[in-house]
Amino acid sequence: MKPLPREFILFSRLGKTDAAFNNLHDAGRLDIVYECIVTSLFLSHGLRRDVIFHAVLNGPPKPPVHIKIDGETLYDVRTDVGTWQQILRKVIAGKSHPGISADKASFEALLKQEAQTRQVYVLEEGGKNVAEMELSENSLFVLGDHVGLPKKAESFALRYGEKISLGRQPYLAASCITVINYLLDRQAKSGS
Ligand SMILES: C[S@@+](CC[C@H](N)C(=O)[O-])C[C@H]1O[C@@H](n2cnc3c(N)ncnc32)[C@H](O)[C@@H]1O
Repeated sequence: MKPLPREFILFSRLGKTDAAFNNLHDAGRLDIVYECIVTSLFLSHGLRRDVIFHAVLNGPPKPPVHIKIDGETLYDVRTDVGTWQQILRKVIAGKSHPGISADKASFEALLKQEAQTRQVYVLEEGGKNVAEMELSENSLFVLGDHVGLPKKAESFALRYGEKISLGRQPYLAASCITVINYLLDRQAKSGS
């Protein structure tokens, strides 16, 4: 049976929840959301049609805002920051873009729903070493932003899954996504 799409959820503590911003960095670090979008969904000259990326923005003025980007239907996008600044502003303002939706789901509500069909992995330096395990095909990966995942969100997520680590080195969230995509690509290729 074909595996479900891979999913990533980024918990953004401060990501702005209205469209009044001049740049992604000053909008509660929406630049991290942008970087994670690129590493989740883009290949060289193509999109990963089997990936869904979520960001839950918890910054002012109207948290939460859940943005979902589905690689299967995503359209009319490029990798540059200008393109995504425009798209994120538009979607946060309630307008649509092919393959992208925004709603008011909280991190907890989203995770509870996704955990019904997926193995949840919480990325954290102190977790089980990813090199010593085989990842489930139908998996969902939870990541924190530049500050890391809040303890409350982490405890909630761990009701549904386990912590995994890429080693003791703290990486950018976007780099972690690149590594996970690579590991799953390799796993799928070797058929294990
Ligand atoms: C820039 S890091 C945040 C670092 C922050 N100092 C902390 O304590 O979480 C952003 C996110 O990337 C993930 N991450 C970074 N390095 C990791 C590692 N070595 N193993 C697993 N996940 C990692 C975690 O989900 C983390 O919340």
